Amino acid sequence: MLAVDRRSFLGTSIPGLAAALVGPALVRAGAPSAQRPDTLFLTWQRDPTTTITVQWIGTQSEVPDVYVSKWGATGAAWSATHASVRPFPLTNLRVFRVEVTGLLPDTEYQFRIGTQPATYRFRTMPVKATDTFSFVSGGDCGVNAHAAVVNALAAKQDPRFVVIGGDLAYDNGSSPESVLGFLRSYNRHMTDSAGRLVPMLACVGNHEVAGGYSRSRADAPLFLSLFDGLFRDTSYAALDFGDYLSLVLLDTGHVSAIGGDQTDWLRKVLSERADRPHLIVANHVPAYPSYRAPDGSDGTGADNRKYWCPLFERYGVDAVLEHHDHTFKRTHPLTGGLRNRYGVPYLGDGSWGQLRAPNSPEKRPYLAAVGQAYHMTVHRLEGEQRYHIAMEEGGKLADAYSTCGKRPAKKG
Ligand SMILES: [Fe+2]
Ligand SMILES: [Fe+2]
Repeated sequence: MLAVDRRSFLGTSIPGLAAALVGPALVRAGAPSAQRPDTLFLTWQRDPTTTITVQWIGTQSEVPDVYVSKWGATGAAWSATHASVRPFPLTNLRVFRVEVTGLLPDTEYQFRIGTQPATYRFRTMPVKATDTFSFVSGGDCGVNAHAAVVNALAAKQDPRFVVIGGDLAYDNGSSPESVLGFLRSYNRHMTDSAGRLVPMLACVGNHEVAGGYSRSRADAPLFLSLFDGLFRDTSYAALDFGDYLSLVLLDTGHVSAIGGDQTDWLRKVLSERADRPHLIVANHVPAYPSYRAPDGSDGTGADNRKYWCPLFERYGVDAVLEHHDHTFKRTHPLTGGLRNRYGVPYLGDGSWGQLRAPNSPEKRPYLAAVGQAYHMTVHRLEGEQRYHIAMEEGGKLADAYSTCGKRPAKKG
């Protein structure tokens, strides 16, 4: 594990980013537009190298086809896929979903919806990690001016996708208007420099669920109306990107208990992926909190540390993305809670659009770096190298950290 030279890695891009940022955008209220849906976003239900899922919330009475063709190819044929439709809970609106399969890896496509004239671009993920690429993570967004600015900052990094680690819209299972506002802000900002839509992945947080903890799927109706393609049977899932990256999205006790079935599943999933070049976990409540207290029988993260952290250590997880505490934090690489150069780093703590003051590393020795700033993190994968670049709302560099290669996973 080594720290990168911040100046040499990022060059002069940070001031440029800050200068390029526009002021906070206002979130529009009201019903979604029937034309050019302002809640349109991309996600994945399975293999990101050959599929894409298009979703939006709308009012159409007719269920349209989505037409896809290769981008930039003269005379390329458009193939149609029919949308599925389901209620958007607590409203008269509907969630439209189209999964397009059989795509070519690392290829640019365009699509349009029904007879609407607008076209949108996206690209599939590569099968082989032949090129450097970035994705962005963060959590605890909400619908406010800070979240909008961090959205714009994230899009400026040209990520291939975004991972939101819970507390997306703060809908609490009961506020569809919050979800609409969140999706409109994401839709407005999350386009890369070439005009391609940036897909979103998410895991569940307490504010997706009525009651927050130890509830059922029925208590997370809004979140699951959007993401039950990936979280079809369980509220946790693993997504494999070609031969180079696996992303494991967990539920920190909101719909599924941390121990029991989820831990049994996690053990199997991690053991099967221990040799992956990049094995990254995202969850909402942190194992190593920066704001809340970790101590006591029900201290924050106690179950994570009891059930999951030993598995992260055993199977060579390269980074755990944590949220919920509304700060910037990075832990030392940890084994059993103690600093160990072969341990697991925990990056967080969810301040895309929410903020608290963290405890200091002096008070919490597992912490290596903290900050009270709205932020998101750019994860840049270059061969065996991983760079984790935390950027504050105004474009300032909060932290740069890198790891390389695989720690030896313990067998058995
Ligand atoms: Fe939160
Ligand atoms: Fe939370």
